[in-house]
Amino acid sequence: MNMRLKGVILAGGTASRLFPLTKVTNKHLLPVGPKPMIYYAIEKLVGAGIEDVLVVTGVHHVGSVVNLLGSGKDFNCRFTYKVQDEAGGIAQALGLAENFASGSPVAVILGDNIFQDSLKQHAEAYTEQGGGARILIKEVSDPERFGVAELDGDKLLSIEEKPENPKSNFAVTGIYFFDGDVYDIIRTLKPSGRGEMEITDVNNDYIRRSRMSCSPLNGWWSDAGTFASFDYVQKLVKEAPPE
Ligand code: G1P
Repeated sequence: MNMRLKGVILAGGTASRLFPLTKVTNKHLLPVGPKPMIYYAIEKLVGAGIEDVLVVTGVHHVGSVVNLLGSGKDFNCRFTYKVQDEAGGIAQALGLAENFASGSPVAVILGDNIFQDSLKQHAEAYTEQGGGARILIKEVSDPERFGVAELDGDKLLSIEEKPENPKSNFAVTGIYFFDGDVYDIIRTLKPSGRGEMEITDVNNDYIRRSRMSCSPLNGWWSDAGTFASFDYVQKLVKEAPPE
C-alpha cells in the first residue's frame, strides 16, 4: 500500500445523552480537562503521523467547529470539513469520507473517544499489514454499552453491538483503520434496530472476509458520551494525561 494514511474525525450526532449540555453546542466542543474534547482526537491522529484530517459534523454546529479548528495550521495538519445532514450513524458519517480519502486508507476516530496511548505504533502496524481493517480493543467493566469482541484466544470471531449478554469484556474502541473497500461495504448496509448504519456491521464484513486484525490497548480509554463517562474521562485526563 503506497498511499498515505489519512484521518477522519466523526464529530456529528445529536448527543441527546448529554442534554441539556449539548442543546446549543456540539458535544465535541465541551471541555475535557483544559481542552475541547475534539482536540484529543486531533492530537491522536497528528501524533500517529497523519497530516490530512477530515472532520465530519452536523449542520447545526459546523460554524462553531470551523471557528475553533480553522485550517489545521495550529495542529500541524490540514483540515477538510464535511457536513452530515442528519445523524444516521457512524458508518453513514464515514461514507461521506470517500472523496476525501480518494483511495487512501483512513484512520477513523470517534470524536468523543479519548485514548491514553499514542496511536503511532498501531497506525504503523496497520500500514504494514497491507490493506484490510484493524480495530483496537480494551477490557472494560460495562461491555454491554459498546461493540463487544467475541474472541477465541487472540482470534477475533465477530463483534456484537451492545449485546445484552456480552461474549467477552473487550469493548471495540472508537478508532478504526480501513482500506478503500469500506465505502462499498457501507453502501450494502441496512439500518439497525436503532435506525443507524452501524460501524459494527462494517467490521463484521471485514472479519468474514478474513481482512480484519485486532490488537489490545495498554493505556486507559473511555468514551465521553454519557454523563457518567464524561465525568470519568475528566478524572482520567487529570490523573494520567494522554501521551
Ligand atoms: C459506538 C459504536 C460501538 C463502539 C463505541 C465506542 O457506540 O457503535 O461499537 O464500541 O462507539 O465508543 P455509540 O456509543 O456511539 O452508540
